[in-house]
Amino acid sequence: MNEYKINTKCVQAGYRPGNGEPRQIPIIQSTTFKYDTSEDMGKLFDLQASGYFYTRLQNPTNDYVAAKIAALEGGSAAMLTSSGQAANFFAIFNICECGGHIVSSSSIYGGTFNLIAVTLKKMGISVTFVSPDASDEELDAAFQDNTKAVFGETIANPALTVLDIEKYAKAAHRHGVPLIIDNTFPTPVNCRPIEWGADIVTHSTTKYMDGHGAAVGGAVVDSGKFDWMAHKEKFPGLCTPDESYHGITYVEQFGNAGAFITKCTAQLMRDFGCIQSPQNAFLLNLGLESLHVRMPRHVENGQAVAEFLSSHPKVEKVNYSGLKGDKYYALAQKYLPNGGCGVVSFVLKGGRPAAEEFMKKLKLAAIETHVADARTCCLNPATSTHRQLTDAQLEAAGIPAGLVRLSCGLEDKEDLINDLKQALA
Ligand SMILES: Cc1ncc(COP(=O)(O)O)c(C=O)c1O
Repeated sequence: MNEYKINTKCVQAGYRPGNGEPRQIPIIQSTTFKYDTSEDMGKLFDLQASGYFYTRLQNPTNDYVAAKIAALEGGSAAMLTSSGQAANFFAIFNICECGGHIVSSSSIYGGTFNLIAVTLKKMGISVTFVSPDASDEELDAAFQDNTKAVFGETIANPALTVLDIEKYAKAAHRHGVPLIIDNTFPTPVNCRPIEWGADIVTHSTTKYMDGHGAAVGGAVVDSGKFDWMAHKEKFPGLCTPDESYHGITYVEQFGNAGAFITKCTAQLMRDFGCIQSPQNAFLLNLGLESLHVRMPRHVENGQAVAEFLSSHPKVEKVNYSGLKGDKYYALAQKYLPNGGCGVVSFVLKGGRPAAEEFMKKLKLAAIETHVADARTCCLNPATSTHRQLTDAQLEAAGIPAGLVRLSCGLEDKEDLINDLKQALA
């Protein structure tokens, strides 16, 4: 479907039914698949034929939806995972093992920060965090001989910093490693990081892609552009024989376009089993079918709310890259010309107590550990999603303790603004 525009891909990419086949994606609610001979099945285990044998590794419903997400991002292959956390873990762990190191923007989602700074550390993977605004020199200084990847978020949750993807990609490539971008907030409707040099793109599909707060999920997309063999000493898992798969070398057998996702499926999905349920993949696809219609409304509401808040006397600061005075306005014009997302964050005069009091008074916006949904919701990150971070880490991530994250849904923007008005009063 490459010849079609993104709006058409949202609706029709991935699943293309044949004559007399179901118009809607079938939910293949089966753990396993039947074969006539052991030889047939053996070929699948040897990765000599493509097909399905067990849903812990792969399921056709998931693959239809993953193919749609790959088409939306302009990637060569994709896979669905059980959550966004699993997607980021897989994207990193597929190329970075014990003894490896990654460079990461410090302005990222708290759960991902924890994954990288605490859990991956326990697995022997170290990290150097850099400012999302780091200069070329500062980025270069963060690399080590054992660096395997660079990580960042297009629009960071909840600091709403906009990453200079091109700068980060060039730095990663100067050091012979791929750039992994979590593109959850803008979605491919508003930004396609691969077009700016990113090599791997991840998503928490739980957010706008699903869009209705119905199903937790994630996705990993490979651009197919990174030349693994050119840096084969850094990526032995892709460029040398895999003993757990009868000695196949992923890049030789599947090329740059297929190696990353095949290895991720064959090894990580097999061993960790973080597969998305086919039911959830079906729900995700329903969300994707209207993503291109919903995103502009989220942006419209986010922009209106950000403008209202920035002129209110009780508000100290508003973060929204669509505001002319925002630090990231220029980068947003480059990477997000149609707007970023509906998430606005702001600090009330009076800090954390004022934020807590204000949130209690909201009638339309519910307090939720969630974001990027059809219904407007809000949260104080310091007391919820980011409560494991120290004050210094909160500061580095650009999250003051009194910050309110407001995720503007699809309601009428006047109603949203009136709700904020009465709560502020
Ligand atoms: C940018 C980003 N990445 C990853 C995640 C983790 O996704 P999930 O909650 O689906 O595991 C989140 C969750 O909020 C997120 O905002």
